[in-house]
Amino acid sequence: MTVPVIELTGIEKIYDTGSVRVHALRNVNLEIQHGEFVAIMGTSGSGKSTLMNILGCLDRPTAGRYRMEGVDISQLDKDQRADVRNRKLGFVFQGFNLLRRTTALENVELPLIYAGVPAAERVRRGRAALATVGLAYREENHPSQLSGGQQQRVAIARALVNNPSMLLADEPTGNLDTRTSLDVMGVFQHLNRESGITIVLVTHEPDIAEFAGRVVTVRDGRILSDRPVLWRRDAAVELEKLPPEEDEGSLGADLPAEDCPQKEGS
Ligand SMILES: Nc1ncnc2c1ncn2[C@@H]1O[C@H](COP(=O)(O)OP(=O)(O)OP(=O)(O)O)[C@@H](O)[C@H]1O
Ligand SMILES: [Mg+2]
Repeated sequence: MTVPVIELTGIEKIYDTGSVRVHALRNVNLEIQHGEFVAIMGTSGSGKSTLMNILGCLDRPTAGRYRMEGVDISQLDKDQRADVRNRKLGFVFQGFNLLRRTTALENVELPLIYAGVPAAERVRRGRAALATVGLAYREENHPSQLSGGQQQRVAIARALVNNPSMLLADEPTGNLDTRTSLDVMGVFQHLNRESGITIVLVTHEPDIAEFAGRVVTVRDGRILSDRPVLWRRDAAVELEKLPPEEDEGSLGADLPAEDCPQKEGS
């Protein structure tokens, strides 16, 4: 038996803000193996982000044990957690969180700057990560010159550039239209299949969860169900079935003037 990437045992999370005390996670037990693609579902306030913050070492459980690749990380201090994040984890967010005045390549290189990787090596790895998500030809573009799906691809490349053991994505298609969501889910499925990278993705959309191999549903801070996806969707296949796009997203339209070199004034 190989060691699971994630092993949560009896995880509790209580937010204590003085006046209010919120019991956000209750006795959560969860194992995730290498190469799995897991969707975490649940209504608003059910504890999904709280769970992701713990998985992502952004926060510590109030009680319980968290082992990552066999190592107990529940008791690590802030600096040690940052170290685990930099070495083992890649994050993808709903709002992309890209630096606006910076090229795609520079955005992707950012985690390597924090990790102290020399410039030439950063460029090499940044380009490789962009190529992995199919954006090699866009490395000099700023986020404002890219479509939503392309921006999320840059964010995924940035998450990949450290060769993490696991990708964590919180509502990565939350702001995207159907086609762009399919595109982004296609990138995740491709990475999961081809590179075997473990993915944990939070969504409140059941049809997005069906791109994963397993769905964990959370309610009131507890795991309500944990089941394999029987009829798994294939994003690449579904994208091909969509009618062709009418307009290939005119570059630079709808942008604030400051980000758009072609525009003067507002
Ligand atoms: N920093 C915090 N301080 C106090 N309470 C919090 C904090 N973060 C979350 N909570 C509470 O913990 C519970 C779970 O919140 P969480 O953000 O994990 O839900 P969620 O499932 O991600 O919801 P959503 O779908 O709206 O993003 C909620 O009752 C929320 O109000
Ligand atoms: Mg949330």
